[in-house]
Amino acid sequence: MAEVLIVRDEEEAGALAAEAIVNLIRSKPDAVLGLATGSTPLTTYGALARRIHDEGIDVRRVRGFALDEYVGLSAGHPESYRSVIAREVVGPLSLTPEHVRVPSGDPATIRTAGSDYEAAIDAAGGVDLQILGIGRTGHIGFNEPGSSLASLTRVKTLTESTRRDNARFFESACDVPMHCITQGIGTILRARHLMLLAFGHAKADAVAAAVEGAVSTSSPGSAIQLHPHATVIIDEAAASKLEFIAYYRHAWSNKPEWQGI
Ligand code: PGA
Repeated sequence: MAEVLIVRDEEEAGALAAEAIVNLIRSKPDAVLGLATGSTPLTTYGALARRIHDEGIDVRRVRGFALDEYVGLSAGHPESYRSVIAREVVGPLSLTPEHVRVPSGDPATIRTAGSDYEAAIDAAGGVDLQILGIGRTGHIGFNEPGSSLASLTRVKTLTESTRRDNARFFESACDVPMHCITQGIGTILRARHLMLLAFGHAKADAVAAAVEGAVSTSSPGSAIQLHPHATVIIDEAAASKLEFIAYYRHAWSNKPEWQGI
């Protein structure tokens, strides 16, 4: 079962997630982080940036792999995840740019981009801690419903629902690419620790399906139930459709301190 932490707000979630990442980096200075884009992880990156700078944490050897990328956006497009990761993660956290990779969405090399990315993750020794958001469709990364639980990094077609959700970053929904390249669910499950964050009522159904629903390709987030160390950090609204909230609170308030997050 995933550990479920129900917090007051996004700031508290970000502080908790940052605490887990700081502890990881302190014990492993060349830790490999799995990086998510989207609105959800922003308070985590904000809290982490403050801790890194206030506490002088050395992150020069930290490495990172983004979850996904759009196919076909020009290299410098401000909404390509390469640009977003540079702007929202690498810069604020002062990571070493050459140590952070994003799957390539360049159509010229797209046939081999998935296997190249898998090889790079393997060569880095695998992801230590994977930050995840979850889409209203239940997707993790861009693994839309129907994605194989064993899938590896590959090209996917976005659902119209996800394209509409992401239209806020583009001039119109038509400008959101049709295709993406995403780590597969199998790739994500190889990370040593999964940390899934979600906020707001719009995510409540996806969270309930992921945490308490049947493990199924129909709700890709449910794959976290197959992982031995998955932490779900959510606010009250995102938790509102969970059945076992009282138990999650009980377990968290009685958690042995030595276990950490
Ligand atoms: P969001 O996206 O963080 O912008 O809500 C999450 C996702 O689509 O995985």
